[in-house]
Amino acid sequence: MAVLCTLAFTNMNLARIGVVGLTSLAFFYLMFYEPLTNFCPSLLTNPEEVEERHFTKTNSPEKPIVLLWFWPLKVPFDLSKCPEYFNISSCILTDDRSLYSKAEGVIFFHKSINADLSNLPQEPRPPFQKWIWCNWESAMNTEKKPRLDNLFNLTLNFRRDADITVRNELTIRDEEMKDNIMLPKKDKLVCWIVSNKFAVYGTTLRENYYSELSKYIKIDVYGLAHAGKWLDFDDYYSVVGNCKFYLSFENSVYKDYFVEKVNGPLVAGTVPVVLGPPRETYEQFLPVGSFIHVNDFPDPKSLAEYLKQLDKDDEAYMSYFEWRRYYTAAPHYPKMGERFYHPFCLACDHIAKDKDYHVVNDLHDWYFI
Ligand SMILES: *[C@@H]1O[C@H](CO)[C@@H](O)[C@H](O)[C@H]1NC(C)=O
Ligand SMILES: *[C@@H]1O[C@H](CO)[C@@H](O)[C@H](O)[C@H]1NC(C)=O
Repeated sequence: MAVLCTLAFTNMNLARIGVVGLTSLAFFYLMFYEPLTNFCPSLLTNPEEVEERHFTKTNSPEKPIVLLWFWPLKVPFDLSKCPEYFNISSCILTDDRSLYSKAEGVIFFHKSINADLSNLPQEPRPPFQKWIWCNWESAMNTEKKPRLDNLFNLTLNFRRDADITVRNELTIRDEEMKDNIMLPKKDKLVCWIVSNKFAVYGTTLRENYYSELSKYIKIDVYGLAHAGKWLDFDDYYSVVGNCKFYLSFENSVYKDYFVEKVNGPLVAGTVPVVLGPPRETYEQFLPVGSFIHVNDFPDPKSLAEYLKQLDKDDEAYMSYFEWRRYYTAAPHYPKMGERFYHPFCLACDHIAKDKDYHVVNDLHDWYFI
């Protein structure tokens, strides 16, 4: 019984983080993962305690409220979609500030916070309320605001060591897919959608890599930075799917920082060529053979040669999609504001489930490593 329970949790956790089906990794989890009391109560707590907790939870009449204090990038969207998009219905997300005194969680988007904190709530914080620091940029593109230490209770970020980590995760299929792997028709070799090439955002590395790479292989570029106009959001998946390779180049290199730029090609049926944190970081989240890392090559020229070689060798190219037999990738929402659906819904769910006390003491030391 105990073993079964641990196994069930291990599988679920693996599915959740979308880690590659490495036996060694699974073994590691089996050996060392401590099951959470919620999932495996019989192992750790006595039955009365569990009954009681269960009782309080199911009888609580209202779902916790999580308040969004600022709209990120000032783009509002419908906050009622967590059940539909992510199967999260444990909580209520709102932007109605009049609910401040009832909210169990309040999300603050870093970029919008005034350095002197003058646009944060002025009323006292209710004792049960948790303030959630939300940031979606690498340290390089995050403004330092020194008064934020000892202010928040939870961090919401792409980093693995955040309290609430948000990633585009792969899901393990219930059964291995035996059919042929189908890809969309391709008439382009390498594509890149990029809107920002300003050096101040740290983009020099990727710009240099791109310009060097483009000397040796044709790259179709879309987006404001090089094509001079935004790509229509509705065309995102079809444009990406039409290419054999997609340049998933992050704007700057930072711990755990790779975002939906990799998920897009995985969903569309295209091989991501990644530039960002080291290969090991990607492998924590993605199957080893699902992407190409620029660091695997001594220079852009050798990468170009490798891509051209794959272009001629169908079997080798198709091996980059073998992971699809075991995992599925879910589309993210490419529109500006919509990228925040996922983090906000997860934060909401976290508040509903986590009843612990937290304080984030050293936000700056933590983030600006
Ligand atoms: C949605 O979540 C509920 C419980 O939280 C679960 O029972 C159900 O299977 C989930 N549905 C899907 C489609 O994942
Ligand atoms: C949240 O953090 C604040 C600031 O450090 C602290 O005073 C408060 O007790 C914390 N609340 C919870 C519920 O963790």
